Amino acid sequence: MPNAPVLTFDTADPEFVRDPWPRYQQIRDLGGVVFNERVNRWMVAGFDDARTILTTATVFGSERGQAEQAGVFGGPTMEFYDGPHHDRMRAIWSDDFRPRTLAALRPAITEVVRARLAPCLRRLRAGETVEVVAELTRGIPTEVIAHLLGIESDMAGRFAEWSDAMGASAEGYTNPGERGARLIAVGKAATAELNEYIRAQITRRRCPSFTGDDLITTMVRHDYACTHMTEQEIIASNTQLVFAGNETTAKLLAQIVVTLAAHPEQRDALAGDPELIPAAVEEVHRHETITHSVFRDAIGERAFVGGVRVPDGRRITLLLGAANRDPARWEHPERFDVFRKKLPHLGFAFGLHSCLGMNLARLEAQIFVEELLATLPRWRVHGQVDYGRNFAVRGPAAVYISAA
Ligand code: HEM
Repeated sequence: MPNAPVLTFDTADPEFVRDPWPRYQQIRDLGGVVFNERVNRWMVAGFDDARTILTTATVFGSERGQAEQAGVFGGPTMEFYDGPHHDRMRAIWSDDFRPRTLAALRPAITEVVRARLAPCLRRLRAGETVEVVAELTRGIPTEVIAHLLGIESDMAGRFAEWSDAMGASAEGYTNPGERGARLIAVGKAATAELNEYIRAQITRRRCPSFTGDDLITTMVRHDYACTHMTEQEIIASNTQLVFAGNETTAKLLAQIVVTLAAHPEQRDALAGDPELIPAAVEEVHRHETITHSVFRDAIGERAFVGGVRVPDGRRITLLLGAANRDPARWEHPERFDVFRKKLPHLGFAFGLHSCLGMNLARLEAQIFVEELLATLPRWRVHGQVDYGRNFAVRGPAAVYISAA
């Protein structure tokens, strides 16, 4: 028997995905660590506990249980390793994701946002209702990541489809059954297609006459990749970038639309003072969180969290959305407040595997808010927002708005 309170709930239940907050409070009330029988995992809700786990890779590792992760990307990536191989793989792209390097992308990202926004604005100004996920937010990160990988922007639609199918397969791993098996099968087919597409791009870039300086080229020509990475790791790493930079960022943008509409006085404050926009992006991310769960596996006999020992080899889900509303860290954490004292949150995780693309996601979100507020200072969301069934990457699946 697990030595933690036992709960039984389905993390793919649309009602839980839409409103996970009461469940998170229940876990806090039970001491912050529970065993969820339904998904056969320990679950951790506290900020400090989650951060400790994320910074103790020798006891809470990513290596053992990431087989399905490797399945999602078609091979092992940096997320699959905790040791020096991880650090060397990550270092290949780390310069490309620094804020100073990314600043040069501002004009290109602004162009992508404006091009997506223009047709929506025309319709909104004509009094129409627009579904912003399909028509606005979903395509933005896809085009940006295609640009970074040196791929024609007309592939963006396929990238989005592949990435969504890969993301949806996460549900299958915690929710076995016919639906889960189908999601895994569709996800694997998407991975295989994207892997093949990336393989062809890699071959082109190995040709000495190829002159691009995109992220795929950076990796395939890098000494460490040439000498220490397998072909499968190179393909999977680029596949991971397409996935990681896609659905997550799109959902953050859509969540911004929803949260700002729900807090019109704070939206007005941002429109009047764009300097507040970076803090607002962080606060939307803390308040709603996009990646609600990441996992680690207990290694050895010393895997204690919140006084609970997790047996060797067993899996722990870190509830990042719960950690980001931990009342021990934030006053009235349930309140959305762009003026609150700045404290780092766990929306991009922390430590060794903290999000490589966090500065890119932030930049995209900031430009998105700047452009939106400059052209459409007020809008209204219609009806209840559909959050789908994806708890690992949670965010609005469809949002209908009109100009207010
Ligand atoms: C709002 C958008 C995003 C969110 C919420 C997000 C969230 C996360 C989280 C929580 C992790 C840690 C996973 C773990 O610890 O197991 C992570 C890792 C990662 N993310 Fe992101 N991400 C976002 C955007 C991006 C973008 C734009 C890229 C790149 C184009 C990216 C690339 C990566 C990579 C490569 C890792 C693995 C890092 C490692 O293992 O060292 N992400 N992300």
